[in-house]
Amino acid sequence: MKVKEILDKAYSEHHLTKDEIKFLLNSEGEEKELLFAYADRVRKEYVGDDVYLRGLIEFSSYCKNDCFYCGLRRSNREAQRYRMQEDEIVEVAKRAYDMGYRTVVLQSGEDPYYTKDKVCSIIKKIKKEVDVAITLSIGERSYEEYKAFREAGADRYLMRFETSNRELYQKYHPGMSFENRIECLRWIKSLGYELGTGFLIGLPGQTIDDLANDILLVYELDSDMIGIGPFIPHPHTPLKDTEAGSVDLTLKCISILRLLMPDSNIPATTALGTLDPLGRQKGLKCGANIVMPNVNDLKYKLKYELYPGKICINEDATKCRGCIESIIISLGRKVGQGFGQSRHYELKKAVYN
Ligand code: SAM
Ligand code: SF4
Ligand code: FES
Repeated sequence: MKVKEILDKAYSEHHLTKDEIKFLLNSEGEEKELLFAYADRVRKEYVGDDVYLRGLIEFSSYCKNDCFYCGLRRSNREAQRYRMQEDEIVEVAKRAYDMGYRTVVLQSGEDPYYTKDKVCSIIKKIKKEVDVAITLSIGERSYEEYKAFREAGADRYLMRFETSNRELYQKYHPGMSFENRIECLRWIKSLGYELGTGFLIGLPGQTIDDLANDILLVYELDSDMIGIGPFIPHPHTPLKDTEAGSVDLTLKCISILRLLMPDSNIPATTALGTLDPLGRQKGLKCGANIVMPNVNDLKYKLKYELYPGKICINEDATKCRGCIESIIISLGRKVGQGFGQSRHYELKKAVYN
């Protein structure tokens, strides 16, 4: 198998076998650079040079789950917990709008304090005040809740399946079920949300075979947005003494997914920027077209510690807004205007309607 042949096939068919994906995941040197170059070309042809910004509002650091890798897990007694109140969340959304953001991402631990009615009320208030797309990233809920959030005005939903390896899933997510997570993702899709999903790269015990399956699962779920990032060990979790995921492998996953899903949105994640000071730039150069800067106050940013060393933790939201724009311009790209809806979603909708 030659990398060039596989890449030419991916370029024209947007389809690869598992073995071909594994071959690309193992590529090194010039072959790896060729993979990145193909992905960058496909990104340019399908989604253009615009990089869309999403204003991330992490509104609660409480979580009822106990994911082994995450600093917000309920067993982490040292985690600092906070909950933002409705009006405060709406104020931050307004501020994000004033800074030029046209999408806000409402993210939290799985926190039942925010009942169906509370979440609906937050969505409606934001929609009344500012013309932004709303992405929710608040974990697993019932079908009725997802339906109510959608009816209240939520546009998108982001929830990674984290790993497609069931054994690893059960091991690292006590009390949770892989089947339920996938069912939630299917409900979300069926309710007409723009669906975002993805996985962690470098979980201890994860193999190249697992990553190939992860990529295929994102494809099968027909994701409109693809959130993938390296695992970073947190000192107050059971995985504290393990190694972080690889930046290179993350970039390869981004590239392969761009080839397979040319018109989906793919962020260059904060975790990638945390492991490598140029991580986000590298991601944007091999297929990514989205960045999600945090727009919260510093007092909250510091407390939402999924992993240590997070970038921008001491930077004010206005500074990040300027900084990210200069990064984008330095790459010869530009900040996208408008909602930046996934083209994948847009095209599918046009076919169905
Ligand atoms: N609670 C919701 C959920 O789990 O879907 C949303 C918030 S959760 C903090 C968002 C993402 O953070 C997760 O999907 C997970 O992949 C990522 N994350 C958590 N701990 C991490 C770590 N130690 N390193 C890298 N990413 C991590
Ligand atoms: Fe909670 Fe999400 Fe962290 Fe898991 S990843 S502990 S669900 S915040
Ligand atoms: Fe936050 Fe650069 S994006 S300081």
